[in-house]
Amino acid sequence: MNYNGAVKFIKEKIGEKKPETAIVLGSGLGVLKEEIEDKIVLNYKDIPDFPISTVEGHAGELIIGKISGKEIIAMNGRFHYYEGYDIKQTVFPIRVFSLLGIKNIILTNAAGGINLSYKPGDFMVINDHLSFFAESVLRGKNEEEFGVRFPDMSEVYDKEEVKKMKEIIKKHTGNANEGVYAYMKGPCFETPAEIRALRTLGADAVGMSTVPEAIVAKHSGMKVVAVSCITNMAAGVTNNKLSHEEVKETADRVKNQFKEIIKEYLK
Ligand code: HPA
Repeated sequence: MNYNGAVKFIKEKIGEKKPETAIVLGSGLGVLKEEIEDKIVLNYKDIPDFPISTVEGHAGELIIGKISGKEIIAMNGRFHYYEGYDIKQTVFPIRVFSLLGIKNIILTNAAGGINLSYKPGDFMVINDHLSFFAESVLRGKNEEEFGVRFPDMSEVYDKEEVKKMKEIIKKHTGNANEGVYAYMKGPCFETPAEIRALRTLGADAVGMSTVPEAIVAKHSGMKVVAVSCITNMAAGVTNNKLSHEEVKETADRVKNQFKEIIKEYLK
């Protein structure tokens, strides 16, 4: 893929700004936008070769500015495989971030709770993932400028950062979980049998994003931390039917906690 047009465009727009941390805002978590100071907003549709976001509740803009005094670049709206993109297109922005010199990335998402001790509105810091149900985002010719052909994945989510994020979540919500996120392609929510299988395999939460981004970020040497908002219990855990409305409602209910958590994390 050719990232140069996007990199050049963003560099021209941000001038002297040098963001070091990227943040990907998940479903309903775009509220963080309010906290960004000195911001420059770039619409995805204006950035050369950038995909365009199609999901309701997901905006489509890149925001460059400051939170807690730190220079950041935030993706308000991400790309999912289920939207029909090629898996490589979904991580186009992460590769652009790498070329912009970004060293740290915070990934956020909405997820279904598989671990029976979780409840909607909880946060879970991702300490590992399962992704072997899906095509690898690194399939195809290796792009050597980013990383090696066979990258080590024994610590995708930086242990120190997981610990720090967990402490901050605990301080703000009284309760913090860390666990394994199972990546599913979607767009169907899972079946109860799939959720039982995922629980047996060691998953604590399930979702349709984040893992391709985490793999690509890790491949190119970024420090990755990821947080799930448990917006619903996964299929079959309760008698409730799953819906995107519930996901959005829960994310909306905890958005202010989420905002404070990220602000403190960046301090
Ligand atoms: N499954 C998959 N993705 C999700 C869920 C879920 O239950 N909740 C939010 N995103």
